Amino acid sequence: MINMNKKESKEKTFYITTPIYYVNDVPHIGHAYTTIAADVLARYKKLSGYDVIFSTGTDEHGQKIAQSAEKANLTPQQLTDNVVLKFEKLWPLLNIEYDEFVRTTQERHIRVVQKLFEKLYQQGDIYKGEYEGWYCVPCETFWTETQLTDNTCPTCGRKIEKIKEEGYFFKMSKYEEQLLSFIEKNPKCIQPKVRKNEIVSFIKSGLKDQSITRTKKSLQWGIDVPFDSNHVIYVWYDALINYLTAVGYNSDEEKFKKYWPADIHLVGKDIIRFHTIIWFTMLMAAGIEPPRMVFAHGWWTIEGEKMSKSKGNVVDPYKMVEEFGADVFRYFLMREVSFGQDGNFSKDLLIKRNNYDLANDLGNLVSRTMAMISQYFDKKIPYTTNEIEKYDYELMELANNTIKTYNKKINDLSINVALETVWQFIRRTNKYIDQTKPWILGKDESKKDRLSNILYNLSESIRLITILIYPFMPVKAKEIWGQLGIKTDLEKVSFQKNMIWGQLKPETLVKPGKVIFPRIEKKEKIEEKSKVKDKPQKERVSYEDFQKLDLRIAKVISAEEVKGTDRLLKLNLKIGEEERTIVAGIKEHYSAEEIIGKKIVVVYNLQPVKLRGIESNGMLLAAADNEKVVLLTIDKDISEGSIIR
Ligand code: MSP
Repeated sequence: MINMNKKESKEKTFYITTPIYYVNDVPHIGHAYTTIAADVLARYKKLSGYDVIFSTGTDEHGQKIAQSAEKANLTPQQLTDNVVLKFEKLWPLLNIEYDEFVRTTQERHIRVVQKLFEKLYQQGDIYKGEYEGWYCVPCETFWTETQLTDNTCPTCGRKIEKIKEEGYFFKMSKYEEQLLSFIEKNPKCIQPKVRKNEIVSFIKSGLKDQSITRTKKSLQWGIDVPFDSNHVIYVWYDALINYLTAVGYNSDEEKFKKYWPADIHLVGKDIIRFHTIIWFTMLMAAGIEPPRMVFAHGWWTIEGEKMSKSKGNVVDPYKMVEEFGADVFRYFLMREVSFGQDGNFSKDLLIKRNNYDLANDLGNLVSRTMAMISQYFDKKIPYTTNEIEKYDYELMELANNTIKTYNKKINDLSINVALETVWQFIRRTNKYIDQTKPWILGKDESKKDRLSNILYNLSESIRLITILIYPFMPVKAKEIWGQLGIKTDLEKVSFQKNMIWGQLKPETLVKPGKVIFPRIEKKEKIEEKSKVKDKPQKERVSYEDFQKLDLRIAKVISAEEVKGTDRLLKLNLKIGEEERTIVAGIKEHYSAEEIIGKKIVVVYNLQPVKLRGIESNGMLLAAADNEKVVLLTIDKDISEGSIIR
């Protein structure tokens, strides 16, 4: 029976964890990724009024670490004491603020592990036997003969070793039914869904009892079996228990009751089996409720290749912070891929994100607004009248919708979509400047009220945007907050109370400062730029050839993103009386809503093609250099369908 020591649902607590990382080697992008994601969610939940515990730590026992220590001519304890610092020092540099850090060599943890081992032994769920099978040291995984196709590890492909030794087993098979029925009743407990399906079919193929010790003859570096000093506890059995240690299991009952079960264990896709099958059944045996959700994220490849030491392409988070700054790196990792899917890392992609999303979209919005408030209102946030015009109304409505969607998406762990939503709002706010043209109103004293309303709306939008981006880029958000001149602490803002339009106080003195997101120019980029000029020219064509093209003006009447693609927008165009659909690869440069209403140039008589199952009937014209793509539009208004000659 599971002891329902479940926390009260009324009590707003949130407990999130990362895996605890092996300290045989220094941190890499994979470690940074999970920990940043956990930090984003923890910060978001804090702003949403939750009492949060965000726990991380290091996994310090096992054969892998013992071997690394031997190679380095250190004792395992010396090695772990050295390497743990690399993690502990990295997290603050990445603007990560955790609440608990468990090292599995800590006394408090060893006590909990031994206690649980003893309990399960007493109740007959752990028994002594003999293990004969295979073991992968890099993955610290036991493999049975039937799971293998040759002598290599099915996970990492490295050579595995055969072992035959006396050991203790956990009666995992006994919990098979209970586990399946728990997952069925709590379908959200394993996410994303594909992972849940994988796990369920694995369980259905039959659970075997799990070996959970090693003999001291083969390994000394581990926690002793409490009643048998010839054995140490298997590193995964020890490590998973860190999630209980962090919230005071068996040491601080009140804390444990308050925070357990964990709301989210964030893990990489490679370790989901340990976190659902072994972990859930261990907890069931101990009468402890399993976590509410284990979420597996995908893996990063580097420039399209698997990351590995031998390839020399391991991404060092320390270097990323040095080169790009923590918040830009955080933004990239959270924005670039769908959370749960694999992604590709490259510096070029990161620089693009910085230059387009951060410098162009957000940075410009802030600096343009600051400059206009300085110029027209002596650096004071202007007053508002109650006159709301169409564009203002649209902006406010989008602000409200953005907040709603953002909340929903973050809570569903669609982290990248939450950011995308914010960016649609940022782009829309920039467009609001273009629509309302404050620089023209500024020349006419009689338009002061209108100008004041516009600049208020802009600053208020920036206030909301700043709160929305804070969980992702806490330091940059604070810089923008500072420029807005708001005195209250951004960390103390409340999503419920402060995400309401109109709270920015007129008369607040803004403090325009340094550029928040400088553009990054890559050396190679500069070289490439000069190459553009030297691009070989195409062969000349005759006037007759040119005449074969039918170019026309089209008006974009609706636009939407093509799902599952990074670049494509589907556009519905009006060309004269006709309506047509085209698919264009411009999503990185134009959002769907900013393109609607534009009059653009299209090749009208191009053969249709199918893109992602959609027939694209024509092609739009755009100009591109190495940084931007801009649409060709018209100089003066002219009816759609007009012919270009
Ligand atoms: N010590 C175990 C976890 C025990 S938790 C009770 C462990 N440690 S680890 O140091 O190997 O950390 C692995 C984490 O980094 C995993 O979540 C893994 O998925 C993640 N990554 C390792 N390489 C990765 C990428 N290339 N991309 C993204 N994450 C990756 O496993």
